[in-house]
Amino acid sequence: MNFELKPLTLVGLANEKCDVLVLLVQQDFKPGKDELSLLVAQAVKAGDLGTKPGQLVSLYRAPQANTPRLVLVGIGEGKAKQVRAAVMSAVGAVKASLGKKLVLGFAAAAQEDAVRAAVVAVADVTYSYTHAKSKPEPRTLQKCLVAASNAAEVSASFTRATATILGMELAKEWANRPANHATPTLLGQAAQALAKLPKVSCEVLGPKEVAKLGMGSFMAVAQGSDEPLRFIVLRYDGAAKTKAPTVLVGKGITFDSGGISIKPAAEMDEMKFDMSGAASVLGVFRALAELKPSLNVVGLIPACENLINGRAVKPGDVVTSMSGQTIEILNTDAEGRLVLCDALSYAERFKPTAVVDIATLTGACVVALGSVRSGLFASDDALGDALFSAGERSGDLAWRMPLDDDYAEGLKTNFADVANVAGRMGGAITAAKFLQRFTSQFPWAHLDIAGTAWKSGAAKGATGRPVGLLVEFLMARAENK
Ligand code: BES
Ligand code: MN
Ligand code: ZN
Repeated sequence: MNFELKPLTLVGLANEKCDVLVLLVQQDFKPGKDELSLLVAQAVKAGDLGTKPGQLVSLYRAPQANTPRLVLVGIGEGKAKQVRAAVMSAVGAVKASLGKKLVLGFAAAAQEDAVRAAVVAVADVTYSYTHAKSKPEPRTLQKCLVAASNAAEVSASFTRATATILGMELAKEWANRPANHATPTLLGQAAQALAKLPKVSCEVLGPKEVAKLGMGSFMAVAQGSDEPLRFIVLRYDGAAKTKAPTVLVGKGITFDSGGISIKPAAEMDEMKFDMSGAASVLGVFRALAELKPSLNVVGLIPACENLINGRAVKPGDVVTSMSGQTIEILNTDAEGRLVLCDALSYAERFKPTAVVDIATLTGACVVALGSVRSGLFASDDALGDALFSAGERSGDLAWRMPLDDDYAEGLKTNFADVANVAGRMGGAITAAKFLQRFTSQFPWAHLDIAGTAWKSGAAKGATGRPVGLLVEFLMARAENK
C-alpha cells in the first residue's frame, strides 16, 4: 500500500476523486463557506457528529464530495488515541467496499502523533494475512492519501509512520506464520533477505559456530528438536564505524512446546508466536533501511524450537552458558531466558552503548499488565526513560517494572551458579533478574511483550508490536547523539 501526504483544505478534499473519503472532524470544527463544510456543520448541529471520538455518519454519493462513500467521523480534541479509534471505526465501517483509493482528511491542522496514529490505524485495519491460504484475499487498498492543512509540519512524523508500518507488517507476517512455515532456518533466510536493503548486512550462524562460541545454554534448548538452530546477526550501519552501536536482541523460539516441562494442550498453537521478539527485530531493520538514521544498530536473534525428543534437556540438567556461568534448568519451559542469556553475552563484543532485548518471556507479565502495555525493565534509568517515552509518543505503550536484587533470591540453587526459575510470585521480574546477570558490561533494558505481541480469540494474530516503540526510540537516539 502506498501512502501520500498532501496539504488539502476541505475544498481540495471534496474534489479529490477516490473510493472512500474519511473526514476526521475535531470537536471545535469551524465550518468554511464550502459545501462540505456546511454538510459537516449540519451533522454537528443535529447531534449526529458530536465530540465523541469514533461517532460517525456514513453517506453514499453525497453531492458534496467526489467519492461514492463519504464517512464523517468525530475525533474529539484530535489526540493520537482518539484519532486511532476514529480511523479504526470509520475505515472498519466501510471495510468491505474500500476499493483502491482511500483519502483520510483532517478537517483542520493535525497533531504530529495523530497523523502517525491515523496512518498506522489504516494499515492495521486493512492488514490481511494471506500466506498459506489457497484463495488469498489480499488487501484491496492500493493508495491512502492523508490530507492535513499543516502537511509540511507533520511530514517527518508521516514518513516515520509509513516506515514503521513496513516494519510492523514484516513483523506481523513472520510472527503469524506457523512454526512449520517459520523455522529457524527460514527466519535466517528472512534476515538474509533484509541484507539487500541499503546499509543492512546479515550473518547467520549454525550449530557448529554456536558450539564454538560456547553457547551451552542456547544449545540446551535447541537440542530437543530436529530443526537446526540459527543465530542471526543483523547490522544496520548508518553512522561511522567508530560509533558504538545499539544492540537489539529478539527471542526467536519458533515454537515453544515447553519441552519436557510440557505446556497444556489448550492454546498451545499460540506458541508459534514465541518468536515475536525476533520478528520485531526484523521489522525494525526494515524501517531503519527506509529512514536511514545516522546510527549503528546490531540485531541478534537466537532462533530455535523448544521441543521434546530423546535428546531433550531434562529438569535438573546443568549447562554452561557462554558467560561461563552454570545454569540449573529446573523448568524447560523457561527457555526464553536460556537462549537470550547467550545472545546477551555475545552482545559484549560490540561494546554497545545500550542493549535492549525483546521477548515473549513470561505468562506472569500477561497477568501483570494485560495486553495494553509491554513490561519494561531497565538497569539504566536514562535508557528506561528513553524507552518509556518512545512508547508514549508512538502509542506503543510500555510500563517500568522493578529490578530490586531481592527478587533474585529464588534463583539460588545448590547445584549450579543460578537456576533458570524462581517461585511463581513475581515471575516476570525474576525472569528479568535472571537476564540481568548477563548484562554487566552495558546499559541494558528488557521488554517483555508476552501480552502485547499478539491477540487471541477471534482476532487472533500478531500486532507488530513493539516495532513502533523501538523505531521511535532509535530515531530519537539518532537525533540526540
Ligand atoms: N513463551 C512463554 C511465555 C508466554 C506464555 C508468553 C504465555 C505468552 C503467553 C515462556 O517461554 C514460558 O513458557 N514461560 C514460563 C516461565 C515459567 C516456567 C517460569 C511461563 O510464563 O509460564
Ligand atoms: Mn516456555
Ligand atoms: Zn517461550
